[in-house]
Amino acid sequence: MMNRFLTLEEEKSINNLIAQMTLEEKVGQMNQLSPSIVGGFDVSFVELIEMMTEGRISKEEFENTMRKAEKDYHEDDIRQGRIGSFLINDPKKANELQRIAMEETRLGIPLIFGFDVIHGFHTVFPIPLAEACSWDDELFEETAMIAAKEARSHNIHWTFAPMVDIARDARWGRVAESPGEDPYLASVFSRAKVKGFQGSNYKSGKNLVACLKHYVAYGAAEGGRDYNTVSMAPNVLFNTYLDPFKEGIKEGAGTVMGAFNDYNGIPCTLNQYLLRDILKSTYNFQGFVVSDANAIHDCVRHGIASDLEEAGEKAVVAGMDMDMNSNAYSGFLETQVADGRVSMKVLDEAVRRILTIKMGFGLFDNPYVAEDQMNLYEELPKEHIESSLKAARKSIVLLKNDGVLPIDRGVRIGLVGELADMPDEVMGSWAIAGRSKDCVSIYQGLKNANANVTYAKTCGVKEPFNQDELNQVAADSDVIVAVVGETIGMSGEAASRADISLPGDQLDMLKAAVDTGKPLIVVLMNGRPLAIPWVDQHAHAIVEGWQLGVQMGNAVSDVLFGDYNPSGKLCVTFPAMVGQCPSYYDHPNTGRPGGKSKFSSRYIDAPLEPLYPFGYGLSYTSFDYSNMVITQTQEELIIKVQVKNTGKCQGIETLQVYIQDKAASMIRPVKSLKAYKKVALDPDESKEIEIRISKDKLGFYDNDMNYLLEDGVFKVFVGGNSRDCQTDEININF
Ligand code: NOJ
Repeated sequence: MMNRFLTLEEEKSINNLIAQMTLEEKVGQMNQLSPSIVGGFDVSFVELIEMMTEGRISKEEFENTMRKAEKDYHEDDIRQGRIGSFLINDPKKANELQRIAMEETRLGIPLIFGFDVIHGFHTVFPIPLAEACSWDDELFEETAMIAAKEARSHNIHWTFAPMVDIARDARWGRVAESPGEDPYLASVFSRAKVKGFQGSNYKSGKNLVACLKHYVAYGAAEGGRDYNTVSMAPNVLFNTYLDPFKEGIKEGAGTVMGAFNDYNGIPCTLNQYLLRDILKSTYNFQGFVVSDANAIHDCVRHGIASDLEEAGEKAVVAGMDMDMNSNAYSGFLETQVADGRVSMKVLDEAVRRILTIKMGFGLFDNPYVAEDQMNLYEELPKEHIESSLKAARKSIVLLKNDGVLPIDRGVRIGLVGELADMPDEVMGSWAIAGRSKDCVSIYQGLKNANANVTYAKTCGVKEPFNQDELNQVAADSDVIVAVVGETIGMSGEAASRADISLPGDQLDMLKAAVDTGKPLIVVLMNGRPLAIPWVDQHAHAIVEGWQLGVQMGNAVSDVLFGDYNPSGKLCVTFPAMVGQCPSYYDHPNTGRPGGKSKFSSRYIDAPLEPLYPFGYGLSYTSFDYSNMVITQTQEELIIKVQVKNTGKCQGIETLQVYIQDKAASMIRPVKSLKAYKKVALDPDESKEIEIRISKDKLGFYDNDMNYLLEDGVFKVFVGGNSRDCQTDEININF
């Protein structure tokens, strides 16, 4: 079978190369390191990045440390062919290391440089959770393409993105990095990101190798606690969690990263069933798998190996091709192969996969970045800023509006909340190459729009609320705009929260703001759904702003003034309270669906309904759905529906189609998203929208991974969110 990344010629030259490689050189290819930080700061580079993304040190402290730190780049190991890949974000140094690999090693195999380019590089785009709320496939691709261009000019070949973990528990901090709870939307996102990062010409030199992560079910960590255990029926894994990986692989993703968690008792890092049987065999994945940082080492703490050597052996046998930072292969694999515990075949396969990506993406021919390419993005190009503004606008979700929005330009705005004036906070977690100088805070955005605005911090995310400051601001304003939410360190990796309400005294500030009698507009900045029932009841408007990237302030200001009509739709359910977690719309039915009866599946002390359902988002106009007609051909389900703009301004609606298989051989979800379409309508304009769904998308996997298409009655739901839909039924024969 042809390798999708290589020509026949290239396949031959890889075989040739493998035939010449010593055992040590093979092990070297499977070893990824980051510079060790020696002297002064006794943590690894990866840990340092994690400290910054968790907010334990500021971005500035991180940069200063990196500048000052004495680093060991393991040059001698590179020279000996003992390293195949490096985590690095220093283009000149990367060229130096590459020169050693190309000119001073026996075989001249290039290093592949990897880095976390998650939602933009210098041009920071909305966090993935926000961007997914745009439901805009072209945008997903465009932002990845720009990130790739900028990062590649910085001598990075490979990004550890897209993260395509399905995330249904708002307590989990990494919800921020994910495209949300739905397998269909996440699959669209996955494909578009792979396309955007990698481009169609893999050797263009302006792209990045993509990495689907974290394989798999990381988002289902028990209790929403990061790194926690995952127990899950196979059919749930197949129908929900694997989909975005399967689709990303179809699109050609070059690499996959293993997840930290276990799946049903076996860590994903050394899980043969997941890595060999499903990924490499069933999905025919031809690229390579890398572990997460130190994850092979973590297997000792999982209690599945007695020491690092055993963990490495189990991981390599299971199909983990590259070790990120555990040092579990180098130094051990040589003896394990020599005494027959690991076969040379296993090693050759891993090396072949790694060389395939290096060659397929042109690193043998194009291993360096020219110095004059390195500073191309010192200043952000106009088109990148425009794209970032577009992405930020499209990602905003209007959660409530009793008519106070949009506001007139002359209105006196009293702006409060610490987050309104913290430029760095717009970037969200994992924006390592983002720069404060490029960031527009909400306060700045309003000033840029010549708003009549007075700002006072009034309340910090962690600092106490100051009533006097609020009174002063309120006295001189017509409306209060309160920016509240979470700091960057409160979401992302290792940032799970047991309480997902507004941190600190922020709610007190909002209550006091309502007491002033002035209309209250709440702008949220957050990396997860927040439980805000009080805010929903009392604020006059709520704008979900997430962390929207460098142009956040301008985008929010555009929405507040009505220069942009919000069109975002939630890619994740907002629970009404933390006790509802995990909370997601496409849950299976129970024998006693939640209702008024005591003996139904519900809580006695809390509502069952979430605060805002999946797919929800308002506009400054309104849309009406009518005349739904469902028909079918042999291959397709055809849904036609009339959508009308019933409000006073132009708007964009995202029409969503959900399906329920009413009776099947296994319990099916109450509804599942199968398609969506965006439609732009002028006031009073009405359009008939047609959506076609291939019938082979209406099946499901059983516990043995058989895909079943079962005849019977299907319920079809069409609407602007997962709750408020027109419905009809149709009998389908496959
Ligand atoms: C740990 C994170 O889980 C992963 O997402 C990231 O890519 C690696 N560290 C490398 O920074």
